[in-house]
Amino acid sequence: MNGTYILALDQGTTSSRAILFDQEARPVAIGQRSFAQSFPKPGEVEHDPDEIWESQLEAAREALSTSGLAPEQIAAIGITNQRETTLIWDRKTGRPIGPAIVWQDRRTAAICEELKKRGLEPYISETTGLVVDAYFSATKIAWMLEHIPGARQRAEAGDLLAGTVDTWLIWKLTGGRSHVTDVTNASRTMLFDIGQLVWDEKLLAELNIPASMLPTVLMSGADFGKTLPEWFGGVEIPIASVLGDQQAALFGHACVEAGHAKNTYGTGCFILLNTGSERVSSTHGLLSTIAWGWRDELHYALEGSVFVAGAAVEWLKDGLNLIENPRESEQLAASVEDSGGVVIVPAFTGLGAPYWDMYARGAIFGLTRGTQPGHIARATLESLALQTRDVMNAMEKDSGIPLRELRVDGGAVRNNILMQFQADILGLEVVRTEQTETTALGAAMLAGLQCGLWERDQFRSFNPAAAHFQPEMDAEQREKRYRRWQNAVERTRGWEE
Ligand code: G3P
Repeated sequence: MNGTYILALDQGTTSSRAILFDQEARPVAIGQRSFAQSFPKPGEVEHDPDEIWESQLEAAREALSTSGLAPEQIAAIGITNQRETTLIWDRKTGRPIGPAIVWQDRRTAAICEELKKRGLEPYISETTGLVVDAYFSATKIAWMLEHIPGARQRAEAGDLLAGTVDTWLIWKLTGGRSHVTDVTNASRTMLFDIGQLVWDEKLLAELNIPASMLPTVLMSGADFGKTLPEWFGGVEIPIASVLGDQQAALFGHACVEAGHAKNTYGTGCFILLNTGSERVSSTHGLLSTIAWGWRDELHYALEGSVFVAGAAVEWLKDGLNLIENPRESEQLAASVEDSGGVVIVPAFTGLGAPYWDMYARGAIFGLTRGTQPGHIARATLESLALQTRDVMNAMEKDSGIPLRELRVDGGAVRNNILMQFQADILGLEVVRTEQTETTALGAAMLAGLQCGLWERDQFRSFNPAAAHFQPEMDAEQREKRYRRWQNAVERTRGWEE
């Protein structure tokens, strides 16, 4: 190893980012490119695979050129990515056979219903740790094989490769030399046995997916291959870590022991609780998933995925034109004392954990003649915190671990009104950390560990607390507000059925 910097590639749902970290794990340069979101039909969300790749490469090159570093100074690359989003490409030409189907896409709901009818729900939850939902990759692959002309035949002939976004990026970075993924991304496909760490043959057969399409699964810190010299100034850089973005954020918060939990407020909210080397099975609508694997160490997590969080704030901007940028939501919310009895359930694409209702749709309750834009903004922000409480309640019940604090990251954590309400509605301390790039940091930390740049004990100092929010709301008020929320959620269930 020559270099002392780590390049983290963070391929998210709405943008591709690249962040360079120095030897003290401080971010020194960043590159960012957004790319097109396509919504061909209601409930469908697609990305262009070439745009994913090109935007990611440009972001990486931008970070490098801003930093003024030479590619030789990069010890390793760590990759973290939007999970579940799936694509298929030709093994020989490298050409994608269609757009990537994004995790938010609901077009495969009918395939999920069919799997449930065939009685596969208990098997799927036991094997993969997941609930049967259009969110995961399995039904997206099955859909592409059925609907893209010629795809099934080419797949059976062994000409097609499937993968999540990490697999695609590595395949491109290594010039097609590596068709690999890591255990965290594999654990989101609904095809992976999270106990045995193998692709599950029964599920592949049930969904009629040829095993030859799937990548080799490695630990999250491993040798994923080297970049082609042409991408970074003639230098081959090793790819040393891969983690799904939510797992990377958990690692970036140094939530490396059982009982540590984090929430990332991105497009959605993703709450993960490290449950240690033992898998905890949920009876309250959460997912069991792999937190990371490194050498002979494998940690599991309980996860609650909330589909719409930051996306609800985006809706205030693009849908309602109430604000010009997401940061203004705090100002607008501060123009009123409270939500004035308004409750917004942002179930725009159904409800995720702990409800898993593909047919729920959003609603606004409690409107009066006095309702102002400020109330709508405040209720929208509160919906992020209320959905988080739904998940945290389920986590406590499943794990039996009383949670003591919640570590937070993501764009919305700069919003102090939201953070205070989060602490209030949970009755729990909320800790905002110094590093805002927790996802990229997590991937960088594992890459640095894998390539020998850092020791594991160094991690705790990498991302110290920057602000603590203590609960101030009294318990009676808290429970009253929460009951009202639960009532509102109930009324949105099954709307589209
Ligand atoms: O499960 C989907 C999640 O990984 C997407 O995260 O940050 O790209 O919205 P993000």
